[in-house]
Amino acid sequence: MLNRSSDNKQSTLTAGLPFSQACENNKQPILEVLEQELQDFTHVLEVGSGTGQHSIYFAPRLAHLIWQTSDVFAYHATINAWHAAYPAANLYAPLTFDLSCDSVPMNKAVAAPYDAVFTANTLHIMSWSLVSKLFELVGDMLPLNGKFIIYGPFNENGCYSSESNRQFDHSLRQRDSNSGIRHLEDVIALANTHKLKLSDKYAMPANNQLLVFEKY
Ligand SMILES: C[S@@+](CC[C@H](N)C(=O)[O-])C[C@H]1O[C@@H](n2cnc3c(N)ncnc32)[C@H](O)[C@@H]1O
Repeated sequence: MLNRSSDNKQSTLTAGLPFSQACENNKQPILEVLEQELQDFTHVLEVGSGTGQHSIYFAPRLAHLIWQTSDVFAYHATINAWHAAYPAANLYAPLTFDLSCDSVPMNKAVAAPYDAVFTANTLHIMSWSLVSKLFELVGDMLPLNGKFIIYGPFNENGCYSSESNRQFDHSLRQRDSNSGIRHLEDVIALANTHKLKLSDKYAMPANNQLLVFEKY
């Protein structure tokens, strides 16, 4: 499953765990932005932690803050297994966060004092109505100047950013017609309706972007 011969320790420890090559490829470029953007932040909620690979990489390198993972329950065993292999004092076990629940998807998390929310590669997986629900929750939850940081592929000016993203979008929509790469302009307009303004936009490798919204 692992093919990174340069990291034998990690290969040994993670053998048998669900593994995302994309996470391995993008974790360092994302970390470099988070180090800047989250310098003065203390409690981060990660939405859609997936395998948990991002969290085990980011938490020990952002040791000044608490990194709270979350996802739908089906992902918890995997996230917990990665956390067991790479524990960190500031890395917290996943909360159940499922936007498709009719009720508030994460009672405990909503009550906690998060000053930032991070999510990677989720907006094109969820339906637009769930993306809207996510922005509503995050807009309600964050304090003034809190940050919502989003990584993933986006279309801009009505265009795909690459041929590979066009193909990716096509495959997403074939699998689930409610999913698909979102238009940056739609995301910004949605954010504005929840008191979140775009404060930074980073071009990332492999035709992805990292968007930073600030609560106003
Ligand atoms: C493509 S994975 C990305 C995982 C990880 N963040 C990454 O970058 O590798 C999409 C994630 O969105 C989560 N997700 C999908 N629908 C969701 C929902 N309704 N509520 C919360 N999370 C959801 C999935 O469980 C999954 O972890």
